[in-house]
Amino acid sequence: MSRQLVKDNMEKHEFLVHRSVFSDREILARERAEIFNKCWLFIGHETEIPNVGDYKRKKVGGRNLLFVHSQDGEIRALYNTCPHRGALVCRENEGNSRAFRCFYHAWSFTNDGKLAGMPGKDGFPEDFNADGTKDMKAVNRLESYRGFVFVNFDDNAISLDEYLGNAKEYIDLVVDQSESGLEVLGGVQQYSVRANWKLLAENSVDLYHGMPTHKTYFDIKQSQDPGIKRIQLEGRGIDLGNGHAVMEYVAPWGRPVAQWTPIWSEDLKRDMEKMKEKLKERFGEERADRIANYNRNIIIFPNLVINDIMAVTARTFYPTSPGYMEVSGYALAPIGEDKEHRMARNNNFLEFLGPGGFATPDDNEALELCQEAYTNNTEVEWNDISKGMVRGEENALATDELQMRSFWRQYNKILQESFNREKEVAHQ
Ligand code: FES
Ligand code: FE
Repeated sequence: MSRQLVKDNMEKHEFLVHRSVFSDREILARERAEIFNKCWLFIGHETEIPNVGDYKRKKVGGRNLLFVHSQDGEIRALYNTCPHRGALVCRENEGNSRAFRCFYHAWSFTNDGKLAGMPGKDGFPEDFNADGTKDMKAVNRLESYRGFVFVNFDDNAISLDEYLGNAKEYIDLVVDQSESGLEVLGGVQQYSVRANWKLLAENSVDLYHGMPTHKTYFDIKQSQDPGIKRIQLEGRGIDLGNGHAVMEYVAPWGRPVAQWTPIWSEDLKRDMEKMKEKLKERFGEERADRIANYNRNIIIFPNLVINDIMAVTARTFYPTSPGYMEVSGYALAPIGEDKEHRMARNNNFLEFLGPGGFATPDDNEALELCQEAYTNNTEVEWNDISKGMVRGEENALATDELQMRSFWRQYNKILQESFNREKEVAHQ
């Protein structure tokens, strides 16, 4: 099978994506094999399991994993399936434990996955598990960057460092807002959307939809700050390579680091000025300005979004079918942030980013409307993602669609390579 999924015509300034990629089961199977089984996928943040023994259940790339801080201090991702007959070993969502015991026949494992014991030992040979195959298996490739931990199910994958490439600079800008690093606040927000996973990848770096889709939020911001005459979202869209992209822009909302807004107190204003001075000392004027006053929405191909906007959030998502995805969202904040800053940040998070905020339900509605329209629609075939091509990709504005094209170009490259390999095999 071979087919055209993307039409990328620089001369005509036209970029089209075939709508079958959102509803075709064969495409989803190919995505699982070529993307989710081979790319680096976010599993969680180091601060979710800060202490020895801490663990959290995670679903990554369709696998049930146990994200665990083992007794030897290592962070591991264990496949949460019993080497005996397959049951989920750990049924709790999170906790702290030196060992895990399988519910079914009570085999037990230390928190690094080693088989520690089982009932009826005399039924097994003396050297049972001498080769370690009865231990809980760990994902071989687990690497982290500045607290963000990723796994890769392909043992031959390039390093995370190389994979992230230019995206590291933007992760740095997010993390550098805190001298003590970022931590995940509270739990994870889990929800599902009746839409294809790639629609959320697009939406997360789509500033073009901001004003129309989130009009209510912007109306509120305008009413809170008489200084805002007109809502403007200005900045750049940047292709970071490997399918990663960012939009970096200024916006009228308050940023807890460190853009004050009139609904916050005068005390907070003074604190933020101090905070900004500190950033200048640490990084110089220009970088301090970027950290404090610029917003960043980053997509790390294929399914991690880091938004450093009125609050910081990380989101990851995975398709259970072409028209359905499961989303996990995290709120992040500087470790040791003072109470008033944290309150302002949490309010910002809840107001816009949280599952009941002004953004998430609006976005989900938009995504589900798209998915609804693709279903059984074979007559209207192509989506248009051309905005800004006419300017040249290196001059893209944040409100252009370059960020999405960067994602799709990588996506298309991976899928076309897979079609080509298949063709070669067929010809042999
Ligand atoms: Fe786990 Fe049997 S399946 S002990
Ligand atoms: Fe949105």
